[in-house]
Amino acid sequence: MQKAIYPGSFDPVTFGHLDVIQRASRLCDAIVVAVANNDGKKSLFTIEERIELIQEATSGNEKVVEVTSFDGLLVDFARAQGALAIVRGLRAISDFEFEFQMALMNRKLDPTLETIFLMPTEEYTYLSSRIVKEIARLHGDVSAFVPKAAAAALATKFSA
Ligand code: PNS
Repeated sequence: MQKAIYPGSFDPVTFGHLDVIQRASRLCDAIVVAVANNDGKKSLFTIEERIELIQEATSGNEKVVEVTSFDGLLVDFARAQGALAIVRGLRAISDFEFEFQMALMNRKLDPTLETIFLMPTEEYTYLSSRIVKEIARLHGDVSAFVPKAAAAALATKFSA
């Protein structure tokens, strides 16, 4: 069983994340989507909300065996899950430096764990949860960037 972890903040999940999950599911037998609980970022959505939005968006993908949160080091979570690899999306050169640093640090922490970078379709190269939140906060249309449930949840958050 080739299991991979797809970790992230997912605040909220976007079509870019879903594109990466789709690509990963062609390579792996099982994918665990792992929402980081302690990455120090102030998030708009609670962990439970983020998990629910991902679950809803991936319910048709049988390779996604679990959507859960994790505390502590990613490598410890991946080891506990029996995963062989960490999947990360790489959109542009601007992602590279941080991703490279993280991948090499994770390798130092656990040399048995590989990081696999997958590039989402070009259409989503510019897409990020941060930009989507900004658009939603200013009451713009985000339906081309996030699943329906996430668009509705964003509208509710910024309805005041
Ligand atoms: O979606 P993001 O915010 O880019 O995801 C970053 C994430 C959650 C994958 C990263 O911050 C992480 O792995 N956090 C867990 C703590 C950890 O293991 N830190 C050391 C990484 S070298």
